[in-house]
Amino acid sequence: MHEAPPAGSPLRVAVLGSGNGSNLQAILDRIRAGDVAAQVVRVVSDRPGARILERANQAGISASLIEPRPDEKRPAYEARLLAEVAGADWLVLAGYMRLVGKTLLTAYPNRILNIHPSLLPKHKGLRAVAQALAAGDTEAGCTTHIVTAELDGGPIVLQAGLRIRPGETEPELQKRILNLEHLILPRTLQLIAEGRLAILQGRVVIAPGASWMTRSDLPLVSGAWYSEGF
Ligand code: GRF
Repeated sequence: MHEAPPAGSPLRVAVLGSGNGSNLQAILDRIRAGDVAAQVVRVVSDRPGARILERANQAGISASLIEPRPDEKRPAYEARLLAEVAGADWLVLAGYMRLVGKTLLTAYPNRILNIHPSLLPKHKGLRAVAQALAAGDTEAGCTTHIVTAELDGGPIVLQAGLRIRPGETEPELQKRILNLEHLILPRTLQLIAEGRLAILQGRVVIAPGASWMTRSDLPLVSGAWYSEGF
């Protein structure tokens, strides 16, 4: 079982992202609402001008741009990232568009969380929503999982899904899935903050608990499904 932080002290997370940062925003909103007992101690982006940096600044969180230098190898880059996030209990990848290497994995074993816009193990990698449409899937969704060396292949924590509408375009579907991401990423963080996640034989086990169970936004979107503890 992952240990919860000492009573009364919030889980300290660093968020890594490359883009818009709407998932960071969802986390911050839930923290502010008192739904997630975490503190975002640092935001790092690998891309200049990424909106995620602006969102962090607006929330008064220290944010840095750590761009890979030309010819910089992954271990050296990740060592610089690590120095930046020092003090965080967990790393959250929220639209971080880079492969995670050994340096980060060794420093945060089973303590890196990712959100991916597909019902894993389907459609790993880039453009997952387009992959689902191209495959003719009838349902799609998103997954939170623990990051391992296998791209989008680590133990699954939560999933939320919906039925794809006939004729639905990639941007339309992406938007609906993003709404679900904004539910399950903060929810996963809260489960971590409560010390309720364990990994047994490569699978996540969620210990019982009552938090959020009476919330009317679970499931958040009408017609979507959501499950916990599978
Ligand atoms: C999300 O769809 C996430 O699943 C994917 O990148 C997107 C990031 O969105 N990995 P945002 O930057 O959080 O708005």
